Amino acid sequence: MRILLVGASGTIGRAVEAELEGRHEVVSAGRHTGDVRLDIYDSESIRAAFGELGPIDAVISATGAVQFAPFAEMQAADYVMSLRNKLMGQVNLVLIGREHVRAAGSFTLTSGVLDEDPILGGTAASMVNGGINAFVLAASIEMPAGQRINAVSPGVIEEAMDHYAPYFRGFESVPARRAALAYAKSVEGGRTGHVFRVR
Ligand SMILES: NC(=O)c1ccc[n+]([C@@H]2O[C@H](COP(=O)([O-])OP(=O)(O)OC[C@H]3O[C@@H](n4cnc5c(N)ncnc54)[C@H](OP(=O)(O)O)[C@@H]3O)[C@@H](O)[C@H]2O)c1
Repeated sequence: MRILLVGASGTIGRAVEAELEGRHEVVSAGRHTGDVRLDIYDSESIRAAFGELGPIDAVISATGAVQFAPFAEMQAADYVMSLRNKLMGQVNLVLIGREHVRAAGSFTLTSGVLDEDPILGGTAASMVNGGINAFVLAASIEMPAGQRINAVSPGVIEEAMDHYAPYFRGFESVPARRAALAYAKSVEGGRTGHVFRVR
């Protein structure tokens, strides 16, 4: 398969690429890194990247930013930024990508453990992750040409704990290579409308 992997240079993306590159052609993408450059925040750059690429069998998104801050400090603009970036950025990859992904191809988006297990300062992340999970469930029953769509909801990643540990006390971390298996299951398996939870 020819697979577009957005966020390939990231903590999760690197492990996903390592899992898939032996069996597939992985085209890496990011704002500043990768074979193609795109910003999920910018629809025109997504359109340009798909135009440049030609047909693709699967799109994996392992990216998206949200605002972390105590709820008392959160303002509407913080939620809007989070929704526009991690939620609408990934939704736009699907809206634009569905025209370029082959029949029976697939999309795999990324949410995260805060969809069901909140942390202090994580209201925007929880809101966005829940939205991504609900989006793939609903979109799966209307995807064109037999395309599939799933989300992976990883636990906090072991390799990111240097940075995240103070915010995720009591959470058992997940090695990135184990999270990467869920992306393989989504792309290489047959499920659709599913949230693969890796805890
Ligand atoms: N790390 C964790 O513990 C964890 C746990 C659960 C869920 N998640 C979720 O998994 C996703 C990836 O997390 P991560 O920790 O692997 O991220 P990361 O290490 O910060 O890497 C982010 C990747 O995405 C690319 N990127 C960043 N902003 C982009 C944009 N606007 N458009 C296109 N590409 C962009 C980056 O490359 P460029 O700099 O070249 O753009 C990089 O390849 C996020 O949605 C995160 O919320 C992470």
